[in-house]
Amino acid sequence: MDIREQLKSIRENAVNALNETDSSEKLEALRVQYLGKKGELTSVLSQMGKLSAEERPVIGQIANEVRSFIENEIKTKREEVAKIEMEKRLAAESIDVTLPGNSNVLGKKHPLSIVLDEVKDAFISMGFTIVSGPEVEYDYYNFEALNIPKDHPARDTQDTFYFSPEILLRTQTSSVQIRAMEQMKPPIRVLSPGRVYRIDEVDATHSPIFHQIEGLVVDKGITMAHLKGSLELISKKLFGEDIKTRIRPDYFPFTEPSAEISISCFKCGGKGCKFCKGEGWIEIGGAGMVNPKVLANLGIDPNVYSGFAFGMGLERLVLRRYNIDDIRLLLENDVRFLNMFD
Ligand code: DAH
Repeated sequence: MDIREQLKSIRENAVNALNETDSSEKLEALRVQYLGKKGELTSVLSQMGKLSAEERPVIGQIANEVRSFIENEIKTKREEVAKIEMEKRLAAESIDVTLPGNSNVLGKKHPLSIVLDEVKDAFISMGFTIVSGPEVEYDYYNFEALNIPKDHPARDTQDTFYFSPEILLRTQTSSVQIRAMEQMKPPIRVLSPGRVYRIDEVDATHSPIFHQIEGLVVDKGITMAHLKGSLELISKKLFGEDIKTRIRPDYFPFTEPSAEISISCFKCGGKGCKFCKGEGWIEIGGAGMVNPKVLANLGIDPNVYSGFAFGMGLERLVLRRYNIDDIRLLLENDVRFLNMFD
């Protein structure tokens, strides 16, 4: 093939190849193949030396025409391919605005937290401060300083997890009373909610972990009437104006006199039903006047100061509040259950 024919066939091949090109990568490959430094046109031109002096400029001109022809074709094709590629991309990236969105699942407050927050708010509005104490506690704060010595029968009712003879998981938030009286001087008004632990099998009404809300007031002239008034106020806040509060004699080593706190059954209004086991009343905790011995042990003069204290079971309040009859529902964190509370 002489050079003219070679140039002609390069031109034809390039046109054919370009016709079949549909992507910018293929287009670039063709450009390199035909016009690149090691491309077909360059290798043909390297043979120019063999030509005669008359033929050289003629062939040179033809070669230049072929080059600019192919360059133009590539340029046109490039615009075409860019348009096709853009259309493809737009089609692939198109957004269907009618599709439903992805909604975020929002968490909700646990019913224990809902009721606890209400109790806290009520007591804060009466001037109480919220305090807390450790769950891993010394025997001294949990029992000893509360007038429950080692051999005291009251220990039997609170089956205790011990780490050592002196260290345990607290069985009652009453331990925080002692810590508060160690750190504060009267007047004292504190509320201490928290987790407590007792060895127990899990069933509908028992759990080895539960919550108590402890209250303590120490000041001059504090009487049982202040205790009753505070308890009435909180139960009305939680359960409505119609609720009645009852305190009856009970026994706790750290109070004297001691009382059991009950509220009228809000299911039957006090007449007696299955819910309150026919009694008309539901027990929610214990209370009393702080035992003068406890005050004296902490350096508070019982001839000048008196105090009241109470401890309520938070789970009890929540079960009654929402008519739930199984404490396990409060522990399992089943989202279907938790979603029922707002
Ligand atoms: N800590 C007692 C319990 O767990 C409840 C209690 C009774 C707390 C009398 C008190 C109180 O503060 O004065 O059974």
